[in-house]
Amino acid sequence: MGYQRTVKEKLTPYLLFVIIVATISGFLFGYQTAVISGALIFLAPAFHLSIPEQGVVVSMILIGCILGALVGGHMTDRWGRKKTLIIASMIFIIGSFLLSICQSYECLIIGRLISGIGVGIVSVAAPLYISEISPPRHRGMFVSLYQLAVTLGILISFVVNYQCAESANWRLMFLLGAVPAALQFICLFFLPETPSWLFKQGEEKEGTSILQKLRYGKNWMNQIEAMKSAASPHRIGSWKVVFSSKLRFVLLIGVVLSIFQQITGINTVIYYAPKIFEIAGFTSATGAIAATMVVGTVNVLATIISVWLLDRIGRRKLLLVGAAGMAVSLIVLGGAFFIGSGWINEAALVSLMAYVGFFAIGLGPVTWVILSEIYPLKIRSKAMTVAVFANWGFNYLVSLSFLDLIQGMGGAGTFLLYAAITILSFWFVYRFIPETRGKTLEEIESMILR
Ligand code: BGC
Repeated sequence: MGYQRTVKEKLTPYLLFVIIVATISGFLFGYQTAVISGALIFLAPAFHLSIPEQGVVVSMILIGCILGALVGGHMTDRWGRKKTLIIASMIFIIGSFLLSICQSYECLIIGRLISGIGVGIVSVAAPLYISEISPPRHRGMFVSLYQLAVTLGILISFVVNYQCAESANWRLMFLLGAVPAALQFICLFFLPETPSWLFKQGEEKEGTSILQKLRYGKNWMNQIEAMKSAASPHRIGSWKVVFSSKLRFVLLIGVVLSIFQQITGINTVIYYAPKIFEIAGFTSATGAIAATMVVGTVNVLATIISVWLLDRIGRRKLLLVGAAGMAVSLIVLGGAFFIGSGWINEAALVSLMAYVGFFAIGLGPVTWVILSEIYPLKIRSKAMTVAVFANWGFNYLVSLSFLDLIQGMGGAGTFLLYAAITILSFWFVYRFIPETRGKTLEEIESMILR
């Protein structure tokens, strides 16, 4: 029987503090990736950037993310989840500060690369940390709070861009990113290491005393033996183990889900929303920016629904409803571009909102939840590295190819292509993604390895 049905525990204030501090990483992820959309308008004339140079400034963060994801898993295994988060928040402070004082194109590139490394590291370390520290009954909600913080970071960056636009103050846009990073850096020293990692290091006393601080009552004690046995016999699995035939299948499930999160096209909207609205016929720049803020708000609101539902109705249902809704919205969007009639403005706006909303209910948060749960402890950080690396790699490819696709296939062809990929993702989830709601990480491990 799943843990969910047997144990009802209250949440300690300390646990809530820990979760809030850890989710700031998500905020930084969102802010850093989206702030460029507003800053670029002013960077281009200030540094006399050519179109390819602008492309480099925008995409450099994704190169950093790929690098960060590659080292993130190794850091979490070696130094622990908490220290990795501390290092990442330092990297964010340095990156934001450097960007705010840049006097040259080269400095912009380095600043963006550094910020990207921070984002890449936290996208492995933060969901891992939150998942391992959470009680099973609330794990879905807590990991999805991390995604809620990502969406808030994106929205706030849109708002900051809008506010700073009048004074053309791009330096402030970047510098403000250092504020939550500094706050998190200080608070992180009051956070514990995760019990799972400590058990894996053989530090059983420390792991148990942390669990005692994090949980009310005594129910968590039933879990300790399972946690120890999941941690002790194999310690950290080698890369050979990660790719071994026994684990290859579960590795692939996470990697493919992670790739679907990107190739269904979300970041074409997040990074290029004003551009899409422009193509759809919005003539004023303010209209396009305002519409972009509405997109950001829908993203936040729909994520809240998902946070609320994840531990109630489970991961699979949200993924399936989300993918179905995204596919329908994309078909309507593609159709609106195809017909190209007078109401394309409204149709584009409504279907884009619906598309973002359905992403935020399903693939957005649930991907991070599933990635943080399905991998057995001995390969967890390495397998996440592979999945997150694939996520950033495909994010890069989709962002890079989007404008070319629009030029080559038109708006209709491009969005219908994403619709076809989304239908494929629905089938994949239906066929392969297991339901993990309410189970302990150790129960999931034995279900996967059965
Ligand atoms: C994705 C990002 C995306 C964001 C949008 C995240 O889950 O990984 O690529 O920009 O959601 O809310």
